[in-house]
Amino acid sequence: MTATAQIGVTGLAVMGRNLARNFARSGCTVALHNRTEARTRDLVDAFGHEGAFVPTRSPEEFVAALRPPRCLVVMVKAGGPTDAVIEQFARLVEAGDVIVDGGNAHFEDTRRREAALRERGVHFVGTGISGGEEGALLGPSIMPGGSAEAYRSLGPLLERIAARAPDGAPCTTHLGTDGAGHFVKMVHNGIEYADMQLIAEAYDLLRGVAGLEPAEIAEVFRRWNTGRLDSYLIEITAEVLTHTDARTGRPFVDVVADRAEQKGTGRWTVQTALDLGVPVPGIAQAVFARSQSGHARLRRAAASLPGPGAAEQAPSRMAADEAERFAAQVEQSLYASKVISYAQGWDMLRAGSEAYDWGIDLGSVAAIWRAGCIIRAAFLDRIRGAFTERPDLPTLLADPQFAQELGEAQDAWRGTVAAAARHGVPAPGMSGALAYYDGLRAARLPAALTQAQRDYFGAHTYRRDDREGTFHTRWGGDRTEDRTD
Ligand code: 6PG
Repeated sequence: MTATAQIGVTGLAVMGRNLARNFARSGCTVALHNRTEARTRDLVDAFGHEGAFVPTRSPEEFVAALRPPRCLVVMVKAGGPTDAVIEQFARLVEAGDVIVDGGNAHFEDTRRREAALRERGVHFVGTGISGGEEGALLGPSIMPGGSAEAYRSLGPLLERIAARAPDGAPCTTHLGTDGAGHFVKMVHNGIEYADMQLIAEAYDLLRGVAGLEPAEIAEVFRRWNTGRLDSYLIEITAEVLTHTDARTGRPFVDVVADRAEQKGTGRWTVQTALDLGVPVPGIAQAVFARSQSGHARLRRAAASLPGPGAAEQAPSRMAADEAERFAAQVEQSLYASKVISYAQGWDMLRAGSEAYDWGIDLGSVAAIWRAGCIIRAAFLDRIRGAFTERPDLPTLLADPQFAQELGEAQDAWRGTVAAAARHGVPAPGMSGALAYYDGLRAARLPAALTQAQRDYFGAHTYRRDDREGTFHTRWGGDRTEDRTD
C-alpha cells in the first residue's frame, strides 16, 4: 500500500463517515477503515465521487496508507471500545504520529491515554467535535487538546473542515494540552443542557401561563431568533414546535414522552464542577430536571399533590396584548438566565484550565463556538469580545454590557420567576439563575449562620470578619470563644 493519505478515519458510523466525507470534500486524501469492511465499501460506493478516498481492509493497511507524520481519527463509541481501538493502532504507528479521539470521551480518560501514548512517543489528541451528523459533514466546531507539536500537523487539517465563524475564522484552535479539548467539549455540553432547560421553561411558561398553542409559541421563538437570542437552539425550537405529528394530527411536542434522557456529558460537567468547587447551578438544575422528568414513580405519587397548575386545570388563555407583554417578559428572563448559565460555564473553563495548567484562552473558546456547534449563537461573539478585551475578567457578569442588560432585565426576570411560582410552572433554571445572581450580589449571606450551626453541633470552627484566625465557641459550656489556630 503506497502511503498517500494525509488523514485517516477509523469508525465509519454516521459521525465518522461524515467527517471522512468532509475531509475528502476539503481536498484531503482520506484513508478509511471500519471493523466491518462493508461500511468502508458502502461509503466509497455512495460518496467516492466527492474526493480521494483510500479504502483499506485492515488496521495494518489503514496505517500503511497514511503519509508520516500519520494522523488518524478514531470515531468509535466513548468508553471501553475506545481503549481497545487505540491500543490496536498504537501498536502500528510510529513515534511522532498522531492518534485523535473524536468521540465524547471523559477528559480524565483522555489525560490517561495521552500520558500512556506519550511514553511511546505517539501523540494522542482528544478532540470534541460538536454539531452532530450535519456538523461533521458541513463544518463542526472542533475542540482539540493534546500537544502543541501534534497540532502542528493535525491543526491545518482540522482548520480545513471546521465551521467558519461570521468573520471567516475556522471554529477550531488548539485549546491546551492532554485532556483540555475533551474538557472544553464537556463544558460545551453542560452549557447546552442549561440552555435547553431554559428554553424548555420559556416554552412551558408561554404554554402554561399565557395559554398559547405550540404553533403560536413557535412564532414567538422565531421572533426571538431575530434578536439577541439568535441561536441554533432557538431556531430548532421553533421548528420542533411547528411540527405536527403525522399519526395523530396533534402538535408533535404533545405526543413525545416527557421523560428527558442524557448520554452523560452534562452529568460529567456537574460532577467535575463539584470536584473543582465551581458553582454551576444552571447546569446542575438542567441535569436534575432531566432526571426528575424520568422518575415515573415519584411523579405518579406526587401528581395529586395540591398546588396551582394542577394537571386537570387547562391554562386560561391570556388576551393577545397581555400574552404579548408576557412573552416580552419571558424573553428578558430567558436571556438574563442564559447569560448567568454561560457565566457559570466560563467559570468552569477557567477553573479547569487553572487546575490542569492548560492555559485555555477563554476568548478563543467563545470564538470557536460561534458556528458549527450546538450552542452556536450570535451572542458568543460578545463573550469572545469580553474575554479578549479583559482576559482577567473575574466573571462574565462583570462585563459592563452584560451587567447593563442584567440590570435592564431585573423587573421582567423577577416577574417571570414569580409568575412561574404563582402558576405552579417548574422553572428551576430561571429561578436558580436569579438566586445565583442575588447570591453573588449579596453584601451578607446566611452562610454565617451555617458556620455557627456547624460549630455548634460539630465544633468545626469558624472565622470572624473582625479578627484573623479560626475560632470555636463552647456551646455546651459557658459559651466563651477560643481561638483554635
Ligand atoms: C454536540 C452534542 C453531542 C451530544 C448529543 C447527546 O455537541 O454535537 O452535544 O455531542 O452528545 O447530542 O447529548 P445528550 O447528553 O443530551 O444525550
